Amino acid sequence: MQKQCAKLLRAKLARNDEFYTQYADVESECDHYRSHFLNKCIYCNCDTADSAFVKYFAKLKSQGLIRDVWFSGGLGGTDFRSPQAIELLQRADVVVTNPPFSLFRDFMDLLIEYQKPFLVIGNKNAIAQRKVFDLVKWNKIWPGVRRWAGGMRFVVPDCTDTKEVPAIWLTNLPHNHRAGALRLSALYDPERFPQYDNADAINVDRTSDIPVDYDGVMGVPISFIEKYNPAQFVILGLDKEFTYDGGACSVRGRKIYTRIFIRKTLAPIAE
Ligand SMILES: C[S@@+](CC[C@H](N)C(=O)[O-])C[C@H]1O[C@@H](n2cnc3c(N)ncnc32)[C@H](O)[C@@H]1O
Repeated sequence: MQKQCAKLLRAKLARNDEFYTQYADVESECDHYRSHFLNKCIYCNCDTADSAFVKYFAKLKSQGLIRDVWFSGGLGGTDFRSPQAIELLQRADVVVTNPPFSLFRDFMDLLIEYQKPFLVIGNKNAIAQRKVFDLVKWNKIWPGVRRWAGGMRFVVPDCTDTKEVPAIWLTNLPHNHRAGALRLSALYDPERFPQYDNADAINVDRTSDIPVDYDGVMGVPISFIEKYNPAQFVILGLDKEFTYDGGACSVRGRKIYTRIFIRKTLAPIAE
């Protein structure tokens, strides 16, 4: 039974779509944005009536805190790209959901096209998708309140265990937990932070190790975005835009997983 469950789980996660957000996770994130939801119509366009998102907003509605909650997606429901769903999207004030990861690009395209305020769950790697990355780079969207470490656990149908996924919240709603200036203490050391073979920048494997005394271009992991403070750093682009060969960065012949190129802002940060 356990083996069968693990197999089912792998198959479901391979498609990456049928896993459901736990109520406690929805509540602990959404509670930070209550002022943005006040008297608004919330659209959960990848959800059915029993989704934790719909339940959460139904509770706010019953308390007279939001105007309404609409839902239409989920298994057998309306496609979020259909004219019907797009009409609701246009009429709604805020979109809040966990969309299918396999359609995350299409999903974000719609939010961008219709300039919707939103709060959504995405895979950490979605940050490296071109349009999402550009919006993060220009500080038009940012991570939610929940920390990235440890991922999030989701309910998988027919399985008793929840499954951990490297999921994060992304939003364009202001909140009070944006990253402050990162305290840097590491010192530049060419052995520890080598130059890339194929780009004019140094490699930094951990955001917390960004050298305090280095003002040039640095390649950092995607998780840097969680700590990104636009007053402290400038995001220059994705690795492929910077490497001479248009590929992933490499150090002494070793390929390095996705990097974001950054440098410090020129102005000093007031403490
Ligand atoms: C990751 S699950 C999350 C479900 C729910 N939002 C939650 O958080 O519990 C994504 C959901 O999107 C639904 N879905 C897949 N393709 C869709 C589409 N084109 N339009 C709307 N929903 C879709 C799936 O059936 C699935 O239930």
